[in-house]
Amino acid sequence: GRPRDLEGRKVVISAGGTREALDPVRFLGNRSSGLQGYALARTALARGAEVTLVAANVSLPDPAGAKLVRVESALELRDAVLAAAADADVVVMAAAVADFRPAVRHDSKIKKHSGAPEPIELVKNPDILAELGERRRAARQAAGLDPAPGPGVPTGPGAVSGSGAASDSGASAGSDRSPGSGVSSGGAPPPYPSVIVGFAAETDDVLANGQAKLARKGCDLLVVNQVGEGLAFGTPDNAATVLVAGGSPVEVPRGPKEDLADIVWSLVTARLA
Ligand code: C5P
Repeated sequence: GRPRDLEGRKVVISAGGTREALDPVRFLGNRSSGLQGYALARTALARGAEVTLVAANVSLPDPAGAKLVRVESALELRDAVLAAAADADVVVMAAAVADFRPAVRHDSKIKKHSGAPEPIELVKNPDILAELGERRRAARQAAGLDPAPGPGVPTGPGAVSGSGAASDSGASAGSDRSPGSGVSSGGAPPPYPSVIVGFAAETDDVLANGQAKLARKGCDLLVVNQVGEGLAFGTPDNAATVLVAGGSPVEVPRGPKEDLADIVWSLVTARLA
């Protein structure tokens, strides 16, 4: 059996793939099935976690015991993840989030025009993972827990002021207690998760590109999927390299998505301890 090492922990997992509406019937989407995110949810539940599963367009059986929040677009997924992250110990962004959305969502079905089709103008979606990392960095810095600014961390519209960290004044310097652990010495939990996990599909220069992305997004773990050759999208198996901030990469050979999920949770609990 599995260890109950996530007992009392709140985890948020995003799964599936976002759809960006063009009109009432059409969207831009991707091939993510949600299998890896749902495997993460089932294994976290088995290890005792309280799980919020933010599911974007997934048609899989609901994991028994998870709080399921269904979303469609990247903006909806952002709202749901940030709301749930406020008192979570761990956030795992396993969803494939669209980088762009159509600038205009038409209220009625776009008509076929004679002649050349209209180009679709796109605008950038917020990077939710980077936003979570930046919020945590800013809050920790404001609380004096992390005086050195992180290397290469982008600042921008996702950056928050340190206001949220004021409630964390009860924490002693250097303490890195987790919000849901019940070991706080009084006061509200910090408004950020202790451990942030991202996923990335990289085809070449996996280690170099992955390490750069890990630093850029400010997460603790980055699961770099191998794509292609019958792996990843819609398949029960995965193969990956888990990059660890401040640690050595962990190679996960091809196997069931549940096995990768258990390795991720073991690395997460090591960082929560
Ligand atoms: O930059 P890239 O898309 O490769 O990063 C993938 C990771 O970032 C995944 O964990 C995904 O859920 C997350 N992501 C996000 N918001 C976006 C795009 C990706 O949170 N707009």
